[in-house]
Amino acid sequence: MANRPIQRLAFFDTKPYDRQFMKEAEGADSLDWTFHEFRLTSDTMGAAQDADAVCIFVNDRLDQACLEGLVSLGVRHVALRCAGFNNVDLAAAADLGLVVTRVPAYSPHAVAEHTVALLLTLNRRIHRAYNRVREQNFSLNGLVGYDLNGKTCGIIGTGKIGRLTAEIFRGFRMRVMAYDPYPDVAWATGNGVTYHDFDAVLAESDVLSLHVPLTPETHHLIDQDSINKLKRGTVVVNTSRGKLIDTAAVISGLKRGQLGGLAIDVYEEEEGVFFEDLSGEVLQDDELSRLMVFPNVLITSHQAFLTREALAEIARVTVGNLLRHGRDDFLPDTVLG
Ligand code: NAI
Repeated sequence: MANRPIQRLAFFDTKPYDRQFMKEAEGADSLDWTFHEFRLTSDTMGAAQDADAVCIFVNDRLDQACLEGLVSLGVRHVALRCAGFNNVDLAAAADLGLVVTRVPAYSPHAVAEHTVALLLTLNRRIHRAYNRVREQNFSLNGLVGYDLNGKTCGIIGTGKIGRLTAEIFRGFRMRVMAYDPYPDVAWATGNGVTYHDFDAVLAESDVLSLHVPLTPETHHLIDQDSINKLKRGTVVVNTSRGKLIDTAAVISGLKRGQLGGLAIDVYEEEEGVFFEDLSGEVLQDDELSRLMVFPNVLITSHQAFLTREALAEIARVTVGNLLRHGRDDFLPDTVLG
């Protein structure tokens, strides 16, 4: 029974671009799709009634209660259409016999390029210049940045995205220092990157860029203590996961000038805010509201992955994962349990 092919799929947190790219993927026609715009949680899991599988993204929350509910509804497969899986209780899923798959890498280039875009925008004040020019304000006051050439970039995590980001920064002739508990020494040597311990990277970086998964060890990797170990004025860039950063500590670091700037594509409490149009509403998150008014903070709404190439690859691998259910030929690194 558990190995029967997947036919009916409940798809959560759907946006128009998801629907378009998923339907275009090879094999998508053989699945019966039900798209829901809301996120999957234990409160909404009833929408998976009659589904063989659910397809979720970064802000759906599959805790033990939700997973048990899904199994009781007949769900046999959880297909994440993202790389990170911190939002699924994998131990509970394994106990329940659920197959959990993900898309381990869709376009690391998309995320690395967005990381660099954020830094360039913040450093050269392009977001402020754009708004000024539209108001016919052609003044340059307050728009002074610095050359990246010769500055030091710290890369925390040299997996797929961290390595590409480091290589792009090397192209700007930056010195790149890296920290990773599993260093790729051959890659570093070939690309003029040097590995150091975490504190040394903090102490010397002008720009610190985070490329690690969210785990108990990396939760609040950037907190009051690590901020105080940074060189004064360092800019922190985070395109990985919001909870890598202790938001209150970062706000304090920015107010004190210890942090020179912050560019983030992910936010600690982004769930229910990012991806949504809240332009007519009163924002309830005071820390996010505070961050938004710093002149040296730049926020995008978890869009680093949003390229045509990445969306097509996410769709190809997700549909492939679902069609391979019950067979023995999953693609490497796609199966989590
Ligand atoms: P990866 O698995 O290829 O690399 C992660 C690296 O982090 C590994 O080399 C690992 O050894 C290292 N690492 C683990 N714990 C560490 C620690 N405590 N300190 C330093 N390094 C540590 O992952 P990938 O594909 O490079 O993704 C990186 C992050 O980017 C993930 O958190 C992922 O969720 C996020 N991401 C964000 C997207 C967005 O749209 N903003 C899209 C895709 C991924």
